[in-house]
Amino acid sequence: MKIHWENKINDMKFTLKIWRQKNADSKGEIKTYLVEGIERNMSFLEMLDVLNSDLIDKNEEPVEFDHDCREGICGTCSLQINGRAHGPQRLTTTCQLHMRSFNDGDTIIIEPFRANAFPVIKDLVIDRSSFDRIQQAGGYVSVNTSGNTIDANTIPINHDDAEEAFNNATCIGCGACVAACVNASAVLFVSAKVSQFSFLPQGKIEATERVIKMVGQMDAEGFGSCSSTGACEVECPAGITLVSIARMNREYLKAKLKG
Ligand code: SF4
Ligand code: FES
Repeated sequence: MKIHWENKINDMKFTLKIWRQKNADSKGEIKTYLVEGIERNMSFLEMLDVLNSDLIDKNEEPVEFDHDCREGICGTCSLQINGRAHGPQRLTTTCQLHMRSFNDGDTIIIEPFRANAFPVIKDLVIDRSSFDRIQQAGGYVSVNTSGNTIDANTIPINHDDAEEAFNNATCIGCGACVAACVNASAVLFVSAKVSQFSFLPQGKIEATERVIKMVGQMDAEGFGSCSSTGACEVECPAGITLVSIARMNREYLKAKLKG
């Protein structure tokens, strides 16, 4: 069914060069499409919806891409746009990027995130279950909820620590840090997950095994090493910084010294 967009402002058109790949085993290629009638305030994903609507009308296969919340919180809409994770705007996910960030007539290259640990499933959709396994390795706290739950307010927490824990908890697991890194390192992601617990008393109990297990799983998944280029920090839509990596390294050293 054709999508009709009301109140169009400044219809734009774009040439899209999109990675098409039938399945995980097939060889992909870039294909070129012209998309027209794009309103400047449409999101990037809405622009792809228009393309897919046109493709369906022409009995062609629509482009597969991941998305869920379209509000910048789920981390699924990861696309490499003109060579940059989530496109040209800092601190912005693909779903929060608007077509007004581009010029009418632009050519836009759209690819999946590239990393051995993020294999392509189809077109622009990648398998990020490696991140899930890192989380499962240690990204949790053990809290007895069997009728003995203690009210959170009974444990006073310094305001700055609470803020830092929250800032790290804003990592949405999108993988942009991996896509931006020349080594496809997942260190920024893992450091955010370790850091969010390191500030809280609830996180101290499993601190030693958490960092060892999460870093071990990261290595087992085939992510590369960190060489401190800082590209991950630049492309992270949640604003996680290299400070978290330094904190994770300290936590790791402490855990190793404890044996
Ligand atoms: S650290 Fe940033 S770029 Fe990496 S997964 Fe988390 S939100 Fe995405
Ligand atoms: S669709 Fe959820 S962050 Fe973009």
